[in-house]
Amino acid sequence: MKARFLTRIRLWSAAVVMATFSLVQAQDAGKGYELFEQNCTACHQIDGKLIGPELRNVEKRLQDEQGLGKEWLHAWIKDNKALRESGDAYANKVYAEYNNTEMLIFSGLSEGDIDNILAYTADPDGGKAAADEAKAKAEEEAKAAKAATSQGGGGADTGIVAVGFVVLGVLLLWILMRVNALAKATSLNELDPAVAKSAKSFSETFDKYKKVAGLAVGVLAFFALFNVYWGLMGIGVDKGYEPEQPIYFSHKVHAGIQGVDCQYCHSSAKYGKVSGIPSTNVCMNCHKSIKEYKGEYFEEELVASGKFADGAEVKKFYTGEIQKMYKAIGWNPETNTYDGPQKPIEWIRIHNMPDFVFFSHAQHVVAGEQAILKAIKEGTIPNSKELNIGSGDQVCFACHGRVDEMNEVKMANDFTMGWCIECHRTTEVDMDNEYNKEYYAELHEKLKKQYGDATKITVDAIGGLECGKCHY
Ligand code: HEC
Ligand code: HEC
Ligand code: HEC
Ligand code: HEC
Ligand code: HEC
Ligand code: HEC
Repeated sequence: MKARFLTRIRLWSAAVVMATFSLVQAQDAGKGYELFEQNCTACHQIDGKLIGPELRNVEKRLQDEQGLGKEWLHAWIKDNKALRESGDAYANKVYAEYNNTEMLIFSGLSEGDIDNILAYTADPDGGKAAADEAKAKAEEEAKAAKAATSQGGGGADTGIVAVGFVVLGVLLLWILMRVNALAKATSLNELDPAVAKSAKSFSETFDKYKKVAGLAVGVLAFFALFNVYWGLMGIGVDKGYEPEQPIYFSHKVHAGIQGVDCQYCHSSAKYGKVSGIPSTNVCMNCHKSIKEYKGEYFEEELVASGKFADGAEVKKFYTGEIQKMYKAIGWNPETNTYDGPQKPIEWIRIHNMPDFVFFSHAQHVVAGEQAILKAIKEGTIPNSKELNIGSGDQVCFACHGRVDEMNEVKMANDFTMGWCIECHRTTEVDMDNEYNKEYYAELHEKLKKQYGDATKITVDAIGGLECGKCHY
């Protein structure tokens, strides 16, 4: 216990050191390099056009050619759509020049982030060198922090349960043997005195131990009920389910390396019940021009498993999958037109709740977002440590795991009733969001009065364990 506490303190102080370190580093091209790699390289290069314009020295270029200052760049990068809709002349001009291709909206980037990106576009080589240095330093610190982590115990609970079962088993066996002996004795026509005595002594003993026997039956009944309950809580466990898809689409390449936001593709998560799978139009926003895979990254596992001879072969396979997608949806990359019928890709559904369950993404990624982010920070969600990477997609990770590191999506959790309920029991509701402020003000006051200001109101307190909330 104490060792763990010390480890915590060590980890926290490491975190504080790192946080301070990144604050000091805030205004620089190194940070800009990372942000650019994460957010912009899907569509921009430093040199040469990709889907969007070349960005080397973009600040100076726009100043010289268009007379536009830093404010314009901030507004554009944050929300190009709003800027266009405000009637800004150059924003509309460049949009038309690029055939009305939409750039992503980066409302999550701070002013400082954007300054860093611009600093990087002015000094790409310096930025990359600074980033490499910072990374090496962070890795070293992470290693040190890891070395300080001790392996936690665990398993104690299962130990107690096992011992309980053994004790119960012995008790049962003993009762059975006595009853058996008694039955044998009474089946004799006349009780010989010795047997009678033994029978009598058994009934006396039984009387004496009645309470123990009663307790044993009680414990047994409890275990039986517990098993039924556990069975219900665990129905339909599919953790790890990972079917083969019609196109080999890698989340690691798109969400991880290219840094495309989850919600760029799964855009309905915010508004509705389902997150939905993107239509091929969304893919073609980028793949009208990205016809080949030219990245550095390839899955080493595919080479190690002997499926492909080397990295080059894996990359060829990726390019092949892009071509396969064109074929599937009727696009001709030579003429850049649809010359076949436009068909949707038939992705195989991985997560699928039974019909009698009601689950809403909006409830969790909008109303519950702050609550879930806080729970990750405080470590009440399983694997919080791995999930806490300060990314805007973190709320998705809470339930789906690090999808940005998965080539093929697999179920990261059980998705059982027990899993939903566990989180509702431990996650503190965000009482400041508009909805909860309005609907639960009274409850909040009441609980505060009853238990004091520091009361944690978890989701179960607002009805998150009521059958009707999750079942039709
Ligand atoms: C999905 C593709 C996409 C992503 C991702 C993207 N952009 Fe763009 N960007 C474009 C396109 C396309 C244009 C051209 C204007 C248009 O069509 O809207 C553009 C234009 C720009 C311009 C105006 C350049 C000029 O010469 O007028 C800047 C600056 C810019 N992007 C910066 C960024 C930054 C910084 C990031 C990353 C934070 C980023 N973009 C991410 C597609 C993208
Ligand atoms: C470029 C588009 C794109 C981006 C970005 C993207 N996804 Fe996906 N996602 C897909 C496609 C296509 C599928 C269906 C194929 C598959 O399962 O891999 C999918 C499937 C999924 C599934 C499984 C759906 C099912 O069948 O149950 C989950 C969960 C998911 N994505 C989560 C995420 C998360 C979390 C992120 C951000 C880290 C993300 N996605 C980013 C395109 C995208
Ligand atoms: C925001 C831009 C963007 C969107 C949207 C997008 N892609 Fe990609 N895709 C890329 C980039 C960038 C690469 C990597 C190219 C490289 O590194 O040379 C890539 C690579 C690929 C690859 C090869 C690697 C792999 O993942 O197997 C496939 C296949 C692919 N995309 C399919 C799709 C499909 C299907 C969709 C729609 C669900 C989609 N992409 C949506 C930008 C995008
Ligand atoms: C509180 C847990 C939770 C969070 C947070 C969450 N999901 Fe889900 N997700 C689920 C469950 C449960 C399902 C299965 C829903 C069903 O079958 O009705 C699912 C299904 C999906 C699917 C399959 C298609 C669908 O809509 O049913 C995709 C794609 C997906 N999630 C993406 C995301 C993305 C992207 C985010 C972040 C914006 C996210 N999820 C956040 C629990 C979550
Ligand atoms: C990672 C934690 C987490 C998991 C896992 C989770 N939830 Fe939730 N859920 C929340 C939070 C936080 C809220 C409160 C949102 C708010 O503030 O309104 C919530 C609210 C709800 C509500 C509304 C409750 C009410 O009283 O208004 C329903 C319904 C719900 N969740 C269903 C589910 C189902 C079904 C699952 C499992 C498939 C699930 N949740 C899994 C965190 C979670
Ligand atoms: C937080 C959401 C949530 C709450 C609250 C909840 N359930 Fe469930 N329940 C689920 C989910 C999700 C499943 C489906 C699990 C699966 O398919 O793996 C489920 C499955 C079930 C099943 C299994 C049906 C079957 O045979 O597959 C029963 C029965 C059930 N719930 C009853 C209840 C009862 C009774 C209550 C109230 C005491 C309740 N549930 C409250 C989410 C919830």
